[in-house]
Amino acid sequence: MKLSRFYRLTASSWRRLALAPAALFAVGVLHAQTVSNHTTTTPVKLPEPVTLLSFDEGTGTYAADSVGDHPATLMGQASWATGLVGPWALGLPGVAGSYADIASTVVDTTQSFSVAAWVKLNNTNGYQTFVSEDTPGGEAAFFLQLRADSGQFSFTVPYDFFVNPQSLFTPVAGQWYHLAGVYDANAHSATLYVNGILTDQILYVSPNAASGHSSVGRGQFGGGMVDWNNDSIDDVRFYQTALTASQVLQVARIGNPSLAGPPPVEPATLHVDVAHPGAQINPAFHGLMIEEINHALDGGLYGELIQNRVFQNDPNVPVNWSAVQENGGAGSIALDTTQPITGTMLTTSLKVSITQAGKVGAANDGYWGIPVKANTSYKASFYAKASGMTGPLNVSIESIDGSVVYAQAQVPTVTTDWVQYSVTLATGAAAPTENTHFVISAGTTGTLWLNQVSLFPPTYNQRSNGNRIDLMQLMAGLKPGFLRFPGGNYLEGQTIAQRFEWKNTIGPISQRAGHESPWGYRSDDGLGMLEFLEWCEDLNMQPLVAVYAGYSLDGETVTGTALQPYVQDALDEIQYITGSTSTQWGAQRAADGHPAPFPLTYVEVGNEDFFDSTGSYDGRFTQFFDAIRQNYPNLKIIATTTVTSRTPDIYDQHFYETPRSFEQSVHQYDNYTRTGPKIFVGEYASQEGRPVPDLNAALGDAAWLTGLERNADLVILESYAPMFVNINPGASQWPTNLIGYDALHSYASPSYYAKMMLNQNGGTVVLPTTLTTTGGTKFSESVSQDSQTGTIYIKGVNAANQAQKVNIILDGISGVAPQATVTVLTSASPQDTNTLTEPSKVVPVTSKAKVSGNFEFSFAPYSVTVLAIQSK
Ligand code: AHR
Repeated sequence: MKLSRFYRLTASSWRRLALAPAALFAVGVLHAQTVSNHTTTTPVKLPEPVTLLSFDEGTGTYAADSVGDHPATLMGQASWATGLVGPWALGLPGVAGSYADIASTVVDTTQSFSVAAWVKLNNTNGYQTFVSEDTPGGEAAFFLQLRADSGQFSFTVPYDFFVNPQSLFTPVAGQWYHLAGVYDANAHSATLYVNGILTDQILYVSPNAASGHSSVGRGQFGGGMVDWNNDSIDDVRFYQTALTASQVLQVARIGNPSLAGPPPVEPATLHVDVAHPGAQINPAFHGLMIEEINHALDGGLYGELIQNRVFQNDPNVPVNWSAVQENGGAGSIALDTTQPITGTMLTTSLKVSITQAGKVGAANDGYWGIPVKANTSYKASFYAKASGMTGPLNVSIESIDGSVVYAQAQVPTVTTDWVQYSVTLATGAAAPTENTHFVISAGTTGTLWLNQVSLFPPTYNQRSNGNRIDLMQLMAGLKPGFLRFPGGNYLEGQTIAQRFEWKNTIGPISQRAGHESPWGYRSDDGLGMLEFLEWCEDLNMQPLVAVYAGYSLDGETVTGTALQPYVQDALDEIQYITGSTSTQWGAQRAADGHPAPFPLTYVEVGNEDFFDSTGSYDGRFTQFFDAIRQNYPNLKIIATTTVTSRTPDIYDQHFYETPRSFEQSVHQYDNYTRTGPKIFVGEYASQEGRPVPDLNAALGDAAWLTGLERNADLVILESYAPMFVNINPGASQWPTNLIGYDALHSYASPSYYAKMMLNQNGGTVVLPTTLTTTGGTKFSESVSQDSQTGTIYIKGVNAANQAQKVNIILDGISGVAPQATVTVLTSASPQDTNTLTEPSKVVPVTSKAKVSGNFEFSFAPYSVTVLAIQSK
C-alpha cells in the first residue's frame, strides 16, 4: 500500500523498480527516429495561445510574450542557445536558479489547458521540468518534464491515486523533441504528446489551482524550486483549451513540418511454431488474490449480513445499530461490557433498555442494507439474556420505516442467563430490495442484552458459516488454480498487534473477537483460516498461504530470536493446513470440522517487504526459509523482495500501472534470467476505471497476461488485485477492482472478462511465436495448445483504435478444422465499462470464423480475442 499523491518515488514505481528496472525500461520505447512520413493531415484552425515565448531575443534577460502579457525574465545563468523555431532558444546550464521566470499564472489550471515546448536536452540526468506553474501548496500544478525515476518524458499532474504518468518515451540528449501536455477538464485526463504522437494518457486527474509564478526550466516541489534544466527550450506555448491530437501535431509541425504524426496500423504477421511446443504451463497458473479490503469479505464474500455483530467495531457506540421505538414503545440501546459471555470472546454486548411497552428493540443496517430476495430462507442466531422480562422476542427483516415486514419469527422466551437462539426467517413473494434492516424487538418493558447477532442467507455449497453464492460463482467462472491469502497489507497489519493472527480466526465464531485491519475497519474474522481453505476446496483451487514474517506497515520489525515464535506460528499454520490428525494442529483442524488435510504447494513469506526500510527481510526470510524447508522440504517458498542469503523458489512481484504501461511492458520477462527463482506476479492491475476497470484497463491487463503466458517457463503464477469491491459510498479503499457488488447485486468488470477468456483458454503448453509488426500496431499475443485435445488457443489484444490485420501462419501443422471458435471482448469506447445497472455492457461474444494453416484474421479495434482452433 502507501497511498500517495507524491509525484516522485511512489509505491507503484517502487514495486516496478524494485526487481527489474533494466528489463522494464528496455522495452517498448518509442523513439522519435522511428516516426516515418505516414500521415498527411489537413491543417486545422489553431486556437490562439494565451502566451507564446519564442525566445528569439538572443540578448539580455527579457523574453517577450508575442501574443499576450506574460513575458519571462532569464534568471541566474539562463542565456541564449541556437533555436529551432526562429534563431534563438532559451539556453539552460543545469545550474540551480537558472530558468526563465514568468511573474504570474498564465493558465487557469482548474480549467482545460495545454502547454507545448520544443526541448533539446544536453543530458538526461535527473528530473528536468520544462514548463510548470506554481501553487501555494508548494507543488506545481503540472510538470511538463523529464522524470528521473523512469528516464522518460512526462506530463505529470497530481493524480487521485499513485500511478505515475509513464510516457515510455525515453529521450536521448542532443535531439529536439516537441512536447505537449493537455489537460481536459471534462474528461479529467492528462495527455502527453511527443512529436505530435500521443504517448501517455491518465484519467482521474485534478490539477491544483496555480497561483503565483510560472516558469520555463524548473518545477516546484516540497515548497521549493526544483528540477533544474540542462537544455535548450524553444517556442513555449500556453493555451487555455485542451488541444486536440491534430492541433497538437500542427503546433509541433511549426518547428518541424516533416513530423509524420501517428503511424497507421499496418498488417502484422504471426508465426506459430506448432511443431516445437515450448514450456508446460503450470496448471495452477491463473489464480486469485484476496485480502480484507473494500469490504471484500465482511460485507462481501462472507455470508454474514449483520455488521458489527459482536459490538466491538467501536468501543464507544454501537455502530450500525439503532434503537427501534414503534407502536408507542420507548427505550434505548448502549454498549455494555459488564455482561461478558463466559468462555467466549464475546465481551461487549448490546443492552436494550425498554421503558415503555410497544415495539422496542435494536435494528442493524447490515452492510449497506439486508438483501431481501423472494422465497428465501435466512438463518438468524444470537445470544440473549434479559432482566425484568421473559419475552417473547420478535426477529424480523423489515423496510427501514418498519412498514413492510419481509420475514419474521419469534423466540418465545428469554431467561436471565446467556442462551444462544436460532430462528429461520423465510421471505415470500417479495420484490428484491436492500432498503431494509434487521430487527430484534420485544413488546414488554425490561432489559435485554444481545451478543453475536448473526444472519446468514443461503450460502455456496450450503456451508453453515459460508460464502455468498453470486460471488463464488463469479470466481468459479475464472477457473482459478490457486487463492493467495490472507494478504496483502491485511496479512501485515498496520502494527504487529494488528497482523493477521490465524490462530484467532479458527474454532467457533464465538471465539473470534475480530481485529483491526489496515484498511480502516475492523474484521470479524468469521471468514478465518478454515473458511479460506474450504473456499479453496469449493472452487477446486490450491491455497497459496502467506505467513506473517515480522514486518508491519508502520515499519515495526521483529528479528533474530524474537522472531522465532513467529516462525513457529508459521510452522503451526502449515501443520494446520497439511498435517494429519495425529499432529497437534492437524487434530485442531479436525476438531474444527475438517479432518482431511488440504493440499499445499506454495507458502509466501510476508508481503511487499521492499517497504521494510531497515533491510531486515533477508535475515527474516532466512529464518522462515530454513524452518519451512527443514520441516516441509516439498513446499515452494516465495520471497517478496530480493534476498541473497537464501535462494527462494519464487519471487512475488507486484505491478499497479497505467493500461498503456502494461501494453508496453509485454516483453518484461522475455529476457529475464532463467537461472534464478521463478516468478509469481501476485498483484497487478491497470489503474483505469472506478470502482472497476474499464475496457482500456482490460486491454492493458490482457496484454500483460499474454506476456506472462508467453513466459510460462519463468512466470508460473499470476493473480489480479484487488479482487472485490463493495461499491457503496465509503465501503472501498482501492480505486480499481475486478468485481463490484452491493448487498443484492454483483457484476464483473471488463478486466474480469479478459482474464476469464485467457484463463479458460489456457492450454497446457506454450507455442513459440514470432510477431512481426510495423507502423502504429498496438498488438500483443500469446499462443498455447492443449496437448490432450490438440486445440490451439491464439490470444490477441489489439489496443489500437483501428482493426489489426494479422496473417497467422501455423508452422509445422498438418491441418486444422476449417472453423474456429472466436471469442471477442470489445466495445465502442475504451472507457466503456460495466456497472451495477449495466452489468453486461462489455462482455465477451462468441462466434465462428474460417481458419486454415495460413490465414488472415482481423482483430477488432480495442479488443481482446481468443481463437480456438482445432488441429488435425
Ligand atoms: O492490493 C492492494 C494492496 O496493494 C495490497 O494489500 C498490497 O500488497 C499492495 O500494496
